[in-house]
Amino acid sequence: MNPAQTSPWRLCVAPMLDWTDRHCRRFHRYLSRHARLYTEMVTTGALLHGDQPRHLDFDALEHPLALQLGGSEPADLAACARLALRWGYDEINLNCGCPSERVQRGAFGACLMAEPALVRDGVAAMRDAIGDAIPVTVKHRIGIDRIERYEFVRDFVGTVAEGGCTVFIVHARNAWLQGLSPKDNREIPPLNYALVHRLKRDFPHCTIVLNGGVRDDATLAAQLAEVDGVMIGREAYQRPWWLAHWDARYFGDAAAAPVREDVERLLVDDLARARALGVAPQALLRHVLNLWKGEPGARLWRQVLSDPVRRTLEPAQLFELARRARQAG
Ligand SMILES: Cc1cc2nc3c(=O)[nH]c(=O)nc-3n(C[C@H](O)[C@H](O)[C@H](O)COP(=O)(O)O)c2cc1C
Repeated sequence: MNPAQTSPWRLCVAPMLDWTDRHCRRFHRYLSRHARLYTEMVTTGALLHGDQPRHLDFDALEHPLALQLGGSEPADLAACARLALRWGYDEINLNCGCPSERVQRGAFGACLMAEPALVRDGVAAMRDAIGDAIPVTVKHRIGIDRIERYEFVRDFVGTVAEGGCTVFIVHARNAWLQGLSPKDNREIPPLNYALVHRLKRDFPHCTIVLNGGVRDDATLAAQLAEVDGVMIGREAYQRPWWLAHWDARYFGDAAAAPVREDVERLLVDDLARARALGVAPQALLRHVLNLWKGEPGARLWRQVLSDPVRRTLEPAQLFELARRARQAG
């Protein structure tokens, strides 16, 4: 396997609001050079009327990086696509899977699955705005509410593909738009991977990426045999060291795998830089607390880095204390 020949979407870390900010993505990039990273969802309104650098700035080492948009108005999506291109993103991803009530009030997210023609027009508007410069992709569910017919998601994909989308990231469960919190909507509607496999068979020229509930290598490898890529959310965040094996195992990259102690050294530098810019230490540290998860002393390491008093120490001193706590544990 040659990394240059694998699909760019072979392994992706999911967009996660409040989690996959730039600090988190930078940390993930230390663990995998090839995984495709996604921003948190940013709404078109926030981008067009808000603080663009705050929403869009990222570090060059985060590439390949996709910007996820929440919105439905084709003209607004087109304007945001131009911004994404100007900022240097590698992909624009449209969120058609978020079930939150706030998002539904804005008439985007998962409720867009009921309006495939509008999604097609939004995709076409973005493509008209930026041409083939970077791909426009869609992340969606397999259905909404109690619609469990395969034809529903098949027709959604078919219609949206007419707008020029060839990459579909499919969270393999329905979104129940009433009565479930977004968290429950990631757990309670049952997973149905077979439906995603069927999409791949029916749309062989499209890139189909499966998402939802993938938490171990056995499941990941089995899914990669069926679809073009797998997107992983919670497990990547909660057990980040998993990513450290991805380049060798799934991209055939023989370069040395990262070592936790080296990652710590990079984090010391990042923390010092963040601090010089006035960024609160926890903005960065909160994402790295699971670095040693599962190893002896991991809890003590985490405790040191979580302690608001110790967090005020010099970064090198803080990590040294954490290392000693872990080794004593
Ligand atoms: C804290 C959190 C925030 C999320 N925010 C987003 C988001 O902004 N956009 C999106 O498309 N999905 C979002 N999701 C859903 C994930 O992208 C993913 O589809 C879902 O967690 C299922 O994948 P997993 O089982 O691997 O976690 C979020 C999930 C979590 C846990």
